[in-house]
Formats: sequence, structure tokens, C-alpha cells
Amino acid sequence: MKVVVGTNEEISKLIAEEFIKQVQKKPNSVLGLATGTSPIEVYANMIKANKEGRVSFKDVATFNLDEYIGLEGTHDQSYRYFMNKYLFDGLDIDKARTHVLKGVGDYLAYANQYDALIASFGGIDLQILGIGSDGHIAFNEPGTPFDSLTHVAELTEQTIKDNSRLFNDISEVPTKAVTMGLKSIMNARKIVLIATGKNKAQAIYNLLKGPMTEEVPCSILQKHPDCTIYVDEDAYSLVK
Ligand code: F6R
Repeated sequence: MKVVVGTNEEISKLIAEEFIKQVQKKPNSVLGLATGTSPIEVYANMIKANKEGRVSFKDVATFNLDEYIGLEGTHDQSYRYFMNKYLFDGLDIDKARTHVLKGVGDYLAYANQYDALIASFGGIDLQILGIGSDGHIAFNEPGTPFDSLTHVAELTEQTIKDNSRLFNDISEVPTKAVTMGLKSIMNARKIVLIATGKNKAQAIYNLLKGPMTEEVPCSILQKHPDCTIYVDEDAYSLVK
């Protein structure tokens, strides 16, 4: 794994450039996308490059990592809503080629075919990940099997607490999600992970220095052949 340390502004620009380069090289790239606070500035940089005419996303296909169970795509805390707001609405992308797991209706049937759907598009070329303070990637919480594909996951108390900052009240945070599995993520040809802030320091330490164990879901990335970890000084503080 490669590590790049910089301010949030610097690492967000660098990751956006990875996406831009990927799409310039292969206009019909398949991009793996994440929600959460971490990628917001990356997405803003991608929108800027698109508006400046440096890159077009019109032939790209995207697959998001996860979605809360119980939220409609129109709910302002759903991940479909987030993606439209922070990325898709700002790009020349074809929304029909953007895939986000469903949180209601036939969400289980859709989840069960998600990995096959990704494969039918040729697999993910470039995947962005955030990381939870407990070391989760997507909603793969500690104890998730390394060979997991897309599945239903129970959120841990820690994750519910972390994510409650975005809801009016902690009781509104869904307790379940559909998520790509660890094997689904490892299938991506190239992975970039972004983490900032002191509350990610332990997870980044475990990712870079700890043993590879299902108790630390992100540790599986140690065996990915092309994975770069982008961190700020705070997230890197325990490694240094
Ligand atoms: C979101 C996702 C989660 C987040 C993680 C960090 O699609 O898969 O694993 O990346 O919870 O969230 P933030 O960036 O809000 O700290």
C-alpha cells in the first residue's frame, strides 16, 4: 500500500485527479463511489474539472458502496440523495448509468444481483473508500467475512453514533444497511482511501500497521495490489 499525507484540500485534489485521469484514459470507466463527509471535496473537484471541460463523464458507469435500509432515495439522508447532491447533479453524467443500492422495496433482490451487475459492466476500474472509526469500509463492520459479497449488514453502535451527527436525533439513524462486501471491494482494479481527522487515527494505524484480521475490516486492503491511502496529519498521527 502506498501512503500520501497532506491537507484535506491537497489529498482531495490528488484523488480527484486520479478519477479525472482514469476517465480521460477510458471514457466508459466504471467508478466505485462512496458517501460520507470524506469524499465531498473530491467530488467538488471532479465537478469543477467537468465544468471546465477537462473531462466528460457522459459514458461513465458508477456503483455506490452502500445504502441505508428503510430510506427512500428521495430521503435527504439516503445515499442516493447524497450522490445526486454532491456529485451527479453537477456532472454531465447519464443518471441511468449511476447505480446505488436500494434501501426500500425489492432491495434484497437488487443487492443479490449487484456483484453480477458490476461484473456485467466489466468490473470497477477505480474505487474510492472512506473509513469508519472502527475500521469499517462501506458498511462492513468488524467480524464481516473477508469473502463477503453484497449483503445486508447491521450497523454497530459506534457507527450509529458516528452517523447520528447527520440526523435530527440518534433514534432516526437506520440500524441496517445494504453494502458491497469486502470481496466485492477487493475486486476493484485500483483503490484509493481517504481519511482525515483524529477520530480516524486508530483505524489508519490498524490498517497500516496491524495484523490482517476480520476484526479490522479495512486490514484486507493490505493484500490489494493497487491501493493508496490518502490521509491528513491527524489521521496519520498514530503511525508517525
Ligand atoms: C459510505 C461508507 C462509509 C464511510 C465511513 C466514513 O459510503 O461506505 O464506510 O466511508 O463511514 O464516513 P465519513 O467520511 O463520513 O467519516
